[in-house]
Amino acid sequence: MENFIFLNPTKLIFGKGQLEQLKNEVPNHGRKILLVYGGGSIKRSGLYDQVIETLKEINCEIFELPGVEPNPRISTARKGVEICKQEGIEFLLAVGGGSVIDCTKLIAAGAKYDGDAWDLVTKKVIAEDALPFGTVLTLAATGSEMNSGSVITNWETKEKYGWGSPATFPKFSILDPVNTYTVPRNQTVYGIVDMMSHTLEHYFHLEENTDFQDRMCESLLLTVMETGPKLLSDLENYEYRATILYCGTMALNGILNMGYRGDWATHNLEHAVSAVYDIPHGGGLAILFPNWMRHNLDVKPERFKQLAVRVFGVDPEGKSAEEAGLEGIQKLRDFWNSIGAPSRLADYQIDDSQIELMADKAMVNGEYGNFKNLNREDTVAIYRASL
Ligand code: NZQ
Ligand code: ZN
Repeated sequence: MENFIFLNPTKLIFGKGQLEQLKNEVPNHGRKILLVYGGGSIKRSGLYDQVIETLKEINCEIFELPGVEPNPRISTARKGVEICKQEGIEFLLAVGGGSVIDCTKLIAAGAKYDGDAWDLVTKKVIAEDALPFGTVLTLAATGSEMNSGSVITNWETKEKYGWGSPATFPKFSILDPVNTYTVPRNQTVYGIVDMMSHTLEHYFHLEENTDFQDRMCESLLLTVMETGPKLLSDLENYEYRATILYCGTMALNGILNMGYRGDWATHNLEHAVSAVYDIPHGGGLAILFPNWMRHNLDVKPERFKQLAVRVFGVDPEGKSAEEAGLEGIQKLRDFWNSIGAPSRLADYQIDDSQIELMADKAMVNGEYGNFKNLNREDTVAIYRASL
């Protein structure tokens, strides 16, 4: 195990009816609020009205930034920064999925920065300060509700990058599984794929003596694979929604990956695809991850075998580590197929015409990936295998 320091300052407020806690939490940070939300799901579900009513009860002055896109745009974050600076906003409240939260993180940091917020995304400047913000999560997927990361797209230049700083942890996040009842089936699938992918990104590392961490990751994968299909046939089941919501947060809040560095190449590959084609993040991961795994099976076959045996129930008897590992990868593919996740770039009408451009995007900071350092040739090979 590597040395590590763990700090996660986000207060997690979980369960039915917890929106009421806004009354206790928001006044700690200010009453001049920028409410950030997406394309309308919170209005249709009635959550918007509940939030407004609750904030009014504690005498907040509310400004609004609606219309945050899935794969949130720098242009929208810039609008939010302007409102914060002009109106002297004291606190931001993100109500939505990962995109709304990620955009809010950039607005919060951008409001404390004199230059263009894109500098923070490209890491030309590291965000040292941010306005305080909280979240009301409506979609189980990214873990953004309890981490400091944010992923922002510049559609003009077709760039999509992750960034973050210790200043961009939410002060609190309210997770009521009921607020995820209206997430449509396809987005529920993407969320399941995303949280499993985060766990797999952790799992593929080169560190030794991570037995406890391995078993936590395996437990999360097993739980999601057991609960996910039940949820997909009963979308308003509180217990299933609660389990998946909790797993999504745990998969990327730092708890699973103490003492080692995960891989994260597949996320880099996916961000490059969605920068060019604007596809859903979870959909892209479902296509790419098994192909990344096949491409890197030879790096440490025992690791793939362990996953295959412990999570996918592969019988290792008489099989080499590679054979068992490969069977596990196929079982992951089969599971994602069984819940209706896409399996080929062609599912999004993506052909080979932009592979070189996607590779340029993926290689923008040079070679990447910690389990295996990927070069341009590897990148193109994984995209080709995903067509
Ligand atoms: O915009 P609205 O109308 O709210 O609709 C959204 C959107 O269309 C809808 N939705 C959300 N909650 C709903 C709902 N529809 C009905 N009922 C609800 N309760 O779902 C659609 C997708 O929302 P989005 O926020 O884009 O999804 P997700 O949470 O999967 O976030 C994806 C973004 O997060 C980034 C991805 O790259 C992508 O840009 N990521 C962020 C990470 C982080 N900050 O740690 C890590 C991840 O790996 C990921 O890269
Ligand atoms: Zn992800």
